[in-house]
Amino acid sequence: MKRLILFIFCCIMLTAFASFAAEGKALSDIHKASDITCADCHGKMKKITVDDNEVSVNSSCVSCHGGMEEMAKLSHEEINPHASHLGDINCTTCHKGHEKSQPYCLKCHSFPMVIPGSDAPEKKWTEYDPKAKITRTETTDVVVIGAGAAGMTAAINAFDAGVKVIVIEKMPLTGGNSMLAAGGMNAAETVFQNKKGIDDSVQLMYEDTMKGGKYMNVPALAEVLAKNSSSSIDWLTSVGADMSDVGRMAGASVYRTHRPTGGKVVGAHIAIVLRNNAKARNMDVRLNTKAEKLIVDEAGNVTGIIVQGKHSGTYAIKAKAVVLAAGGFSANASRVAHYKPEFAGMTTSNQPGAQGEGMVLGAKIGAEMWGMDQIQIHPTVAAGSRILITEAVRGNGAILVNYEGKRFVNELTTRDKASAAILAQTNKSAFLVFDDNVRKSLKQIDGYFHLDLVKTGNTPAELAKAMGVPADALEATIKTYNDAVSAKSDKEFGRPDLPRDFKTAPYIAIEVRPGIHYTMGGLLINTDAQVMSIDGTPIGNLYAAGEVTGGVHGGNRLGGNSISETITFGRIAGTNAANLVKSK
Ligand code: FUM
Repeated sequence: MKRLILFIFCCIMLTAFASFAAEGKALSDIHKASDITCADCHGKMKKITVDDNEVSVNSSCVSCHGGMEEMAKLSHEEINPHASHLGDINCTTCHKGHEKSQPYCLKCHSFPMVIPGSDAPEKKWTEYDPKAKITRTETTDVVVIGAGAAGMTAAINAFDAGVKVIVIEKMPLTGGNSMLAAGGMNAAETVFQNKKGIDDSVQLMYEDTMKGGKYMNVPALAEVLAKNSSSSIDWLTSVGADMSDVGRMAGASVYRTHRPTGGKVVGAHIAIVLRNNAKARNMDVRLNTKAEKLIVDEAGNVTGIIVQGKHSGTYAIKAKAVVLAAGGFSANASRVAHYKPEFAGMTTSNQPGAQGEGMVLGAKIGAEMWGMDQIQIHPTVAAGSRILITEAVRGNGAILVNYEGKRFVNELTTRDKASAAILAQTNKSAFLVFDDNVRKSLKQIDGYFHLDLVKTGNTPAELAKAMGVPADALEATIKTYNDAVSAKSDKEFGRPDLPRDFKTAPYIAIEVRPGIHYTMGGLLINTDAQVMSIDGTPIGNLYAAGEVTGGVHGGNRLGGNSISETITFGRIAGTNAANLVKSK
């Protein structure tokens, strides 16, 4: 009965939407036309106020329409927007009362999806105004800027150490770019490797990281990454994550990329686990809240931040320690082009919030910036999209084939080399080619089918036709590759791991092109995750973790080392910030 009522309600709303769409109406207008009043959404109050997390309006949405789970059951579309990898997010992430509504998915995907209120005017953040009135001042122990994996890990660790924490996040949901991390988390000497009999060592992970980074990494930071990686897996497991599957990513000497059972996507899983942990602890996580400025005292120590809340305006948070975890700038096309003119106009695999504002906050108070022009392109973003095709597809066996139907590179080489090789091919693109056995080995490949990114054929010749490449060439390429797998030796390109041959139909191909993926540069930190100043000393009370920092990965980050960095340095930053507070 409840479902029927919900269904009828949604039909009425959609009909109302259809008649208003042409008139540029916001969702509030559409509601009003159905006799839903301001008080129905905002409650009865003298002056309507909306908190930055939009808690009260969201609970009004849920009380009328049902939550994400109920809405997902009602959906008949092929792509179900209420059941996505973003998890249980606020309705107002997509449905806005008084501004343009837009499916958040469309910030990265391109589905033919229109939602009520989508032609209302868009609201943007106002530029920071140094003269803006500070409407109030709050006080806490630790403020964490950014709610991706690094920020949430720092916050949970600080909270668990017994101090008061506020997390601020400018986007309408937590997860940051970590939410999109696909491949896994690198870690050495873990319980899961032990169970599978994988022989790895901290030293080998360190050496792979340095080699992959062209030996430009700050060695002490790469060492911290490798040394703490196994305990970071243990910590994630202790808070409820499943990191039990172990795969292999490019540039790694052994299987050390940890991910959920069946090779499911790692980032969304971790982001949701961390979100749930913050919820379970009733932590103060403020969405739609943008950091504007770090407050420093006369001695140059950080004493808090100025923020802009979407609804609450500009206010100050005084804190005994601040953790910057605001991510990189891969989605900031003009900044990328500034540092790497040759990357201008390239697509990105990142979420739109990856603008690099955290780096600017640090730079403005004299932080040392490391390697800002070290920008990574990922070789396999689905052509014409922003969808990353995880390196794990190659790790589990896929090969790269060009428009001539031929392999051209060791698929497990580092990202910079694989990207350069693809850009040298016809159309500056290539196809990932594999068979059904590879598909079955990695759960996330099903998602690429779902997103309609694949071409298939029952034979190599049929696949070649679908790809538009010469059939005889592709047949020969697959045969030569299968022979190499049998011989356990890839004489042509020296691929070090040949896990599967291609003999099981359907044969599958995805066209890919390189895209901006990761910014290795950022705030220089020391091994305690303190942000360093240009004069070579740590900036008082300021910590940083994750992609906002620079130096861990040198000139090229290995796949799987990003999530590893966020958890390890997030733990260090959060714990050290809490210890500092307790020592004061
Ligand atoms: O290809 C990938 O799955 C990317 C992983 C990463 O950047 O660590």
